[in-house]
Amino acid sequence: MKNIQVLKPKFRVDECLSEIKECLDLGWTGMGYKTIEFENQWKTYTGLNNAHFLNSASAGLHLAVKILKEKHGWQDGDEIITTPLTFISTNHSIVYENLKPCFADIDDSLNLNPQSVIKKINKKTKAIIFVGIGGNTKNLTEIISIASENNLAIILDAAHMSGSHINSRHVGFDVDVSVFSFQAVKNLPTADSGMICFNSENDDIKARELSWLGINKDTFSRSAMSTYKWDYNVNQVGYKYHGNSIMAALGIVGLKYLEEDNQYRRDLANRYKKNLKGKVDFIEHDSDQTSRHIFQVVVDYREELIDYLSTHNIFPGVHYRQNTDYGLFNTKSKLPKSKYFSSRILSLPLHLELSFEDIDKVSKTLLQGINSQ
Ligand SMILES: Cc1ncc(COP(=O)(O)O)c(C=O)c1O
Repeated sequence: MKNIQVLKPKFRVDECLSEIKECLDLGWTGMGYKTIEFENQWKTYTGLNNAHFLNSASAGLHLAVKILKEKHGWQDGDEIITTPLTFISTNHSIVYENLKPCFADIDDSLNLNPQSVIKKINKKTKAIIFVGIGGNTKNLTEIISIASENNLAIILDAAHMSGSHINSRHVGFDVDVSVFSFQAVKNLPTADSGMICFNSENDDIKARELSWLGINKDTFSRSAMSTYKWDYNVNQVGYKYHGNSIMAALGIVGLKYLEEDNQYRRDLANRYKKNLKGKVDFIEHDSDQTSRHIFQVVVDYREELIDYLSTHNIFPGVHYRQNTDYGLFNTKSKLPKSKYFSSRILSLPLHLELSFEDIDKVSKTLLQGINSQ
């Protein structure tokens, strides 16, 4: 833990505006131009072979399941093992494609528990979706091995994992596809957008077609304009899922500072840990190379505590309620860890505008709230 506080990173408003101004000056705000620039920069930063910029990670997760289903000939009703403790987009992607989510339990990291995943594998299982909650990489390597040993596809919902590394390598390797979110409150925010990174180039080409209504033509690029032809074919139903240059402009600036911003998030998280250690449980990450998108404590009487904090102008979040409780699934599976954490986890404020003093104030108020119960 550093004693001296690092300089607070800013939101780089002027840089974002000047990147957006370039789009407006050129009259190019749509797909192509900055979207291609951002895709290339993302590939360089992560080392991943393919990257396609989309208007959200939700769109990306849908494309991931759809493309793998078609490629491998999965049948309606086949199963994908998934986590109950996630944002609903993760599991919607399975349902969109008439597949069945098979919920496995999590462990104390809030990520899928490898032993529970193994128990859920059956004849109908085709894939595993792994979510790195808060950017945490815990269990990911083990789950990748389980998928490979059982001939299952693996989809990484990396919505929280921009900048998460395992042994200095960015996440997204050794999986069939990874999907990142750059939604407004993520650690690389662009208002709304996402990146889908397939391992296979053919899958990437397919994603590009499907994300632009099934149109089978290269995405626009300035260099391609001279040879550009306006004829194309549409062989399948696609979606309006691609991203645009305004969102990509924000992404380009955000990516430039991602490492610095993630380090600041880890510094803030370490400050929480120092303040709360031995007084309240919190979710540990398995290394100091994760994005630290979220800092979660585990508390009893969570709803009362949320009320208490909000009366002190502190507004925490919940990531997430177990999806098995939603009317859509209403599953009675026995998932004790998921059930336990679903009613107890609380995400404390963690963003770039906070100082260590702010973290101290939140910690103190949290402990007062707990003690007053
Ligand atoms: C785990 C997880 N998966 C997927 C998504 C969907 O991301 P997006 O809002 O970019 O569609 C989110 C967003 O909150 C998320 O937290």
